[in-house]
Amino acid sequence: MAAWDIEIFQAVWLCSFTRKLDVRNITQDTAAGSRLGQRLTIEHLLDPLAMTGGTDAIAGLTQTPKTLPAKYFYDDRGSQLFEDICELPEYYPTRTETAILQEFAGQIAGMTGPCELIELGSGSSTKTRLLLDAYQKLGGAMRYVPVDVSAEILQSSAEQLIADYSTLQVHGLVSTYEMALAALPPTQLQTRTVAFLGSSLGNFPPDKCDAFFAQVIGALAEGEYFLLGIDLQKPKEVLEPAYDDSQGVTAAFNLNMLSHLNWRFGGNFDTGLFDHWAFYNSEQNQIEMHLRCLRSHSVRLDALNLNVDFAAGETIHTEVSRKFELKAMQEYMEKQGLKTLKVWTDAKGWFGLILCQLEPIN
Ligand code: TRP
Repeated sequence: MAAWDIEIFQAVWLCSFTRKLDVRNITQDTAAGSRLGQRLTIEHLLDPLAMTGGTDAIAGLTQTPKTLPAKYFYDDRGSQLFEDICELPEYYPTRTETAILQEFAGQIAGMTGPCELIELGSGSSTKTRLLLDAYQKLGGAMRYVPVDVSAEILQSSAEQLIADYSTLQVHGLVSTYEMALAALPPTQLQTRTVAFLGSSLGNFPPDKCDAFFAQVIGALAEGEYFLLGIDLQKPKEVLEPAYDDSQGVTAAFNLNMLSHLNWRFGGNFDTGLFDHWAFYNSEQNQIEMHLRCLRSHSVRLDALNLNVDFAAGETIHTEVSRKFELKAMQEYMEKQGLKTLKVWTDAKGWFGLILCQLEPIN
């Protein structure tokens, strides 16, 4: 699962409750024997005691228009549905970005040289393998720091990577982006690259995007690298089906948020009374995802002691996916001291990868 717009609460139910509750809790994986174990550490930055108890759901459902935080997409079923979205014929971003990496990972590695690779929202780390292959070809030490809120996916993909790359060291961070960027472990190699792929940046509204960049810049030392994958503006006819596919997987993903609230908060949402609604807002250059109520009714969430009235046609806003312009993004980053070294796109210009470097302040 990629980690977008996530806060502590999401991680609470994803991360193991049996671990010690230290804020900086490092475990060395020795289960697979010492050789593997010495190359893999997992650090838990999330504190399960920081559970917020759904106050954000209450806030979202009691405001007008209604909204729910994107983190409620990702229970187990939601995470699986998201993996399925990435495989859909209409959902071009994953395969387009993968194709760009397939072609240019070697160039990227050549430009940064051997480095520690930090990936925000690493999920299954599938695309990352293309970069790791390229770094492996360069030779020398390899270190990967995947950051994800899901302890489970982080652990299993890290174990797989360790098994497949014989010289790779992995230090996983079970963390939100924010906490990870504020507390990156000291680097052991001469430089670092922070990668943020999958156009997860587009799931931040503009103010959150500004805050995110301030954090990235705060985490990098002068001369270090940032690799960003962004989905680009394109005709509505391509964009809308990507978020409203013919098999209804994206619809199921969106509606699953209500099932998730049902089990998590003792709710009685009837998913049959809502429709998936995704459209491209061409003024804001963003896909918006909503759940639209089909007829007026009330919903009860016992654990939140909350009754919510829905009018027919009323919507809950669940996600935004902004579509960018390469030039504008380069200028935006440049203003903040991130100098573009190179930009790669696919032949259709649908998706972009930007490699930039933090310039010396003076
Ligand atoms: N960042 C990707 C995108 O905006 C993945 C994603 C996040 C997504 N939330 C989603 C895809 C909701 C489909 C539906 O495309």
